[in-house]
Amino acid sequence: MAEAMGTQMTSPDYHYGMGERVVLLGQKWIPRDEKCISSARRFVRDIALDWYTTEEVPDIAELLASEIVTNALVHGAVDFPTPSTLRIAVGRDGPVMTVDVYDSCITVPELRRADSLETSGRGLAIVETLSLKWGWNLHRHGKSVWFQLAAWP
Ligand SMILES: Nc1ncnc2c1ncn2[C@@H]1O[C@H](COP(=O)(O)OP(=O)(O)OP(=O)(O)O)[C@@H](O)[C@H]1O
Ligand SMILES: [Mg+2]
Repeated sequence: MAEAMGTQMTSPDYHYGMGERVVLLGQKWIPRDEKCISSARRFVRDIALDWYTTEEVPDIAELLASEIVTNALVHGAVDFPTPSTLRIAVGRDGPVMTVDVYDSCITVPELRRADSLETSGRGLAIVETLSLKWGWNLHRHGKSVWFQLAAWP
């Protein structure tokens, strides 16, 4: 269903989620601290509810945001000082909601195909299955990993 895309900020051919046509619905910074994953989750869910997204979207957005934020904490910028921050932004472009999580590490995510005995490696597969599209953008000092959902009629 979903299609992964990695793009540079300067790429003219794909207008990723947080571009000019997008209305920013909310933005939040959290410390790189696992205790803050739940507040990031709630933030995304609340925006989906406040903006009357279709029925299943608050749950799905919360779940996928949880995977991406956890990845940013676990895999992104692990060598950076603890006070560094993650940014979560939620935007709307017509019927599409984009959730975008920025971390200050330029290693890009890699979709894995975990076999039945592996206990990890499924987060992005879940994102791929439940999103319209997902991908990443490299920035000068880090990257954003984002996903999109069809959230409004
Ligand atoms: N924000 C990120 N920064 C750097 N690498 C990432 C990031 N997100 C994901 N990755 C890489 O992509 C891989 C796949 O991520 P995925 O979420 O599918 O699995 P996982 O995090 O290893 O396990 P699980 O999510 O099942 O606990 C990770 O193992 C990691 O190598
Ligand atoms: Mg993961």
